[in-house]
Amino acid sequence: MLTKTANGEVADTLVEEREPAIKPADETRSTKAATKSLTIYVDGEFLPEAEAKVSVFDHGLLYGDGIFEGIRFYNGRVFRLEEHIDRLWDSARSICLDIPMSRREMTEALLETIRQNELRDGYIRQIVTRGVGNLGLNPAQCKRPTVIIIAATIALYPEEVYRNGLSVVTCATRRTNPAALNPAVKSLNYLNNVMARIEANIAGADEALMLNDEGFVAECSADNVFIIKRGEIFTPPISAGALRGITRSAIFEIAAELGLKVAETNITRHDVFIADECFLTGTAAEVIPVVKADTRVIGNGKPGPISTRMIARFREITGESGTPIYE
Ligand SMILES: Cc1ncc(COP(=O)(O)O)c(C=O)c1O
Repeated sequence: MLTKTANGEVADTLVEEREPAIKPADETRSTKAATKSLTIYVDGEFLPEAEAKVSVFDHGLLYGDGIFEGIRFYNGRVFRLEEHIDRLWDSARSICLDIPMSRREMTEALLETIRQNELRDGYIRQIVTRGVGNLGLNPAQCKRPTVIIIAATIALYPEEVYRNGLSVVTCATRRTNPAALNPAVKSLNYLNNVMARIEANIAGADEALMLNDEGFVAECSADNVFIIKRGEIFTPPISAGALRGITRSAIFEIAAELGLKVAETNITRHDVFIADECFLTGTAAEVIPVVKADTRVIGNGKPGPISTRMIARFREITGESGTPIYE
């Protein structure tokens, strides 16, 4: 069937009419958060949303001095919880922040926050700030880090984007040089990423492709990047300025399961333009295909077979593995 697209091009939509291979994500099971006030963990207390507040002297606010994790839970299980806790502790160590609780206490606080909100599917934002200090930036002024855990629901993109793909644009803002602020630290200072996101918004693209100082692809504003060429999968190495994504590592496992090779190698915009397929990974976005980069159509302009298999398998894994919340 030939149809006219928004910009007047004639597109062949025959392929879209076949049965979709990807099972839809279920965001509807979590209803409490959508309708009622959330219960939020702040420094050992579970508070109603309206009372969950931090000081204006908290250095997380004044200087972006702190760290965070974004974690998803599916079907009553937290996906890759230990990996997220490990990464939180790594970020803390890197910025000399002493998290004022043990990993076990943090894990229990996180699970209890989900229980308090009666959720089975959703997203957790876990934040540890430097804490309350004075107006000077010296972290030595801050006596105790603030710990916040928010459990809510999130749907970054509508389901049709997972079926039809999204567009990315290369932004002028470079990913921070590791010598300045290492992108491996998941810090509260996300202005570099926010600037990239603003550029994507201005360009009318769904996401921003960020390059490092050398001009190699680092990642997107909140996602890792994968490209596929002749059946082989490529992704930038951590040294290119990519976060060691937990969804990224799940893709490595799925690829191995499917007998596909993933090479961690520097990639350029040219490699993205000529790729057969491209997809992004992130806890919030999950696994999402890219079909356009800087106006160039990737592959045939539709999510390719490997991306589609990755999305389908990722959804299977998230639905059946993880740390149980209610048992
Ligand atoms: C800058 C950046 N890159 C990549 C990712 C993807 O990492 P993960 O899959 O662990 O969520 C995120 C999100 O956490 C991010 O903020």
